[in-house]
Amino acid sequence: MNLTHHTVSRLFWRLGLFGMASFTLLGIARLSAREDGPDEKALTESEAQIPSEKRKAPFEKEIAIRFSTSTQNKKQWDELKEFWNESTESVIHPRTGKTVVRKVVLLKVPLGLQTPPPIPPENPMTVAKFQLGKRLYFDTVISSNNKVACATCHNPMRGFTDQAKVSTGIFEKQGGVSAPTIYNSAYSLLHFWDGRAATLEAQAQGPPQNPSEMFDGKGHPWFHVIQRLRKDPSYVKAFEEVFGHGPTRDATAKAIAAYERTVLTGDSIADRAEVAMRKRLEDADVPTKPLLIAADVEVALKKAVAEKESEIVSAFGLQEDADKRIPEVGASIARGKALFLGKARCNGCHVGDSFTDSDFHNLGVEAKDGKLPAGDLFRFGAQSIGHKNPALVGATKTPTLRQLLNTAPYMHNGSEATLEAVVDFYDKGGNANPTLDIKMRDFEAEKAWLLAKASGEATNGNEPFVTEGGHPIIPLKLALTPQEKKDLVLYLKALNGVQADPAVTGIKVN
Ligand code: HEC
Ligand code: HEC
Repeated sequence: MNLTHHTVSRLFWRLGLFGMASFTLLGIARLSAREDGPDEKALTESEAQIPSEKRKAPFEKEIAIRFSTSTQNKKQWDELKEFWNESTESVIHPRTGKTVVRKVVLLKVPLGLQTPPPIPPENPMTVAKFQLGKRLYFDTVISSNNKVACATCHNPMRGFTDQAKVSTGIFEKQGGVSAPTIYNSAYSLLHFWDGRAATLEAQAQGPPQNPSEMFDGKGHPWFHVIQRLRKDPSYVKAFEEVFGHGPTRDATAKAIAAYERTVLTGDSIADRAEVAMRKRLEDADVPTKPLLIAADVEVALKKAVAEKESEIVSAFGLQEDADKRIPEVGASIARGKALFLGKARCNGCHVGDSFTDSDFHNLGVEAKDGKLPAGDLFRFGAQSIGHKNPALVGATKTPTLRQLLNTAPYMHNGSEATLEAVVDFYDKGGNANPTLDIKMRDFEAEKAWLLAKASGEATNGNEPFVTEGGHPIIPLKLALTPQEKKDLVLYLKALNGVQADPAVTGIKVN
């Protein structure tokens, strides 16, 4: 038998299962026996391995996944009928330099997402990797008690969340925060409410070792996940084909991340209205300002009704006498967009294709009487030593606004049950606390209060929250009228993207 590095390390592994005695008998290695976990060598070998070219599927048999966007590959994108499109491509074989023709899958990136998700060079997208990642994502084998999967808390039927205030994980344990959606997390610069994971690959390694999510607290969490996967020959085969070695932590994280990069949502009423607007501007004889008007939205709504897009139709209450309500709804959505960009200044933080600046802000979601709950550090807590920004105490990541119809309750603690409640929260400017985000503060009012105080004038009995150092923190009230609030809510609903394709969810979503 030709003992390559890999077969040796696999042998180590197999023998490891039968106990320490076999190792010493064979004289392969002397291992310091530890009762509470794997020896160092077995652990390292479960984490990452160097691939064997022989075990991996040959380059010409690999089916790459490529993303096609409406802005970067307009012609191709227009021609693609479905989300998932099989085709062929000619590429240069990296080993031989020869041109080979092989199968490829073109993913039609939903309208409104102008760039393809960034793909790390060490984790290229292939169909087999996507399939493996998808299987892992829905498999409870990742959890110690075989009862919790990623999909338990990020369920495709629930906008890739669990629609709960806080998540329930292993042994029915409750976590401290609400599960964000996976939708479009392919575009996030940092992950988690406090941004403590830099990549999806790093993020995916968290839950299996989290005692309130997937880990029973016994032994080394990842070692045991890999041990369970290696017991299943179909997993071993799938990992070998994709990675050129059996299951490892590195490969598991990569496969799950590759799957997550296909969980995309766009093509909302707002995106479609935007297209209608651009067409109107192009057709116009005189140059017009690029502002959304009711007619643009009406075009989009009419089409959705005609095509019986049930989610959209019901979100806007259009089932009955649809046509009569369309102009009114269209006008309200158009006004809502103007408010979002103007008076309500939502785009101060919710910007870009996924409506997030990928930054961190303290809105005082949990603040009471000027105080955040003890330990509510969020971004400040996650920043590394030497890089902590005290202005970011209690600051959380700006979430996407693209799946709001399916992801209630809202905010990191699920404290707002409805979009109306979220808008009311912003209308009063959030809650005062020492590190309330500067974009949430009313500096004019703060200045006026300081001046009044200095000149000994009365402040109408409305005492704001004042920091230890004597600085007032006054939340900026938006003073939205009831109609404006309604318009803003309708616009938020119009941002809801279409559900992921059944090829991604594995289940039919109607
Ligand atoms: C018990 C419920 C639970 C399970 C199981 C779970 N998650 Fe999560 N997930 C959460 C919660 C809660 C958060 C937010 C945690 C935080 O920010 O501290 C989160 C955050 C995330 C994020 C970051 C999203 C963002 O916008 O920042 C991603 C991505 C993610 N999970 C993927 C996964 C994957 C992949 C798995 C399986 C390996 C998984 N989750 C398993 C509950 C869960
Ligand atoms: C200063 C930055 C900032 C501004 C301005 C802002 N947001 Fe947010 N938004 C955030 C952050 C940060 C969160 C998450 C807060 C938390 O849960 O701790 C959030 C959460 C939300 C959520 C909940 C999303 C979810 O999945 O839980 C909605 C909806 C929302 N914002 C809409 C709006 C609207 C509408 C406006 C304008 C009225 C607005 N935001 C203005 C930063 C901002």
